[in-house]
Amino acid sequence: MSNALRDEAFDQLFRAARTHTAWLDKPVTDDVLTRLYDTMKWGPTSANSSPARFVFLRSRESKERLRPFLAPGNVEKTMAAPLTVIVAYDLLFCEKLPKLFPHNPGMRNLFAANPQLVEATAQRNSSLQGAYLMIAARALGLDCGPMSGFDNARLDEEFFGAGKDCEGCEQEFFPAGHVKSNFLCNLGYGDASKLYPRAPRLEFREACTIL
Ligand SMILES: Cc1cc2nc3c(=O)[nH]c(=O)nc-3n(C[C@H](O)[C@H](O)[C@H](O)COP(=O)(O)O)c2cc1C
Repeated sequence: MSNALRDEAFDQLFRAARTHTAWLDKPVTDDVLTRLYDTMKWGPTSANSSPARFVFLRSRESKERLRPFLAPGNVEKTMAAPLTVIVAYDLLFCEKLPKLFPHNPGMRNLFAANPQLVEATAQRNSSLQGAYLMIAARALGLDCGPMSGFDNARLDEEFFGAGKDCEGCEQEFFPAGHVKSNFLCNLGYGDASKLYPRAPRLEFREACTIL
């Protein structure tokens, strides 16, 4: 069993961490993104399926491709953010199970035969992995601005091929429309002076019970 983290770490990860909409003029480097992925990837998923795929939009051109699909209230903060990540999931995640879950070779076929199980597993676990990403980002000193206000279907057509091949793409997970977006998250170093007052959360007795 591990020791609890120091009190300041709880502040950085949860109590003082906010959803940011304004950003300092400080880039998010490739090195930070690599460390971010190499931290969050250790979070648990069912059958170690790891269905989440992440597209980091940093260039002006890639942000402009995203712009038309954003809800109006999400445009300004997203275009201003140093980086926006599309948290997506791969419906063909089971093809990686021989690597990810080698001690149970039957698991790939279980998923391959059950599209409903694939969809539920991909959605549930990519959401979890998106949360791991946000907590890992905070641990690395970044701030986050998650968003579900966008047109998933049109974004998927634009970024995930929707049936098109992806000749020359480095990323093997892009082709043929089997990747779908879950949510977006702006990443960067937040401008705390622009935050609204913190909204409350439910008390323990409102949200929890002990049986
Ligand atoms: C999955 C998800 C989707 C969200 N979608 C939006 C959104 O589309 N637009 C927006 O302005 N905020 C969005 N939010 C931000 C929430 O409103 C915010 O995280 C919440 O109010 C808590 O704020 P706090 O972290 O500053 O306490 C979203 C948050 C999450 C986790």
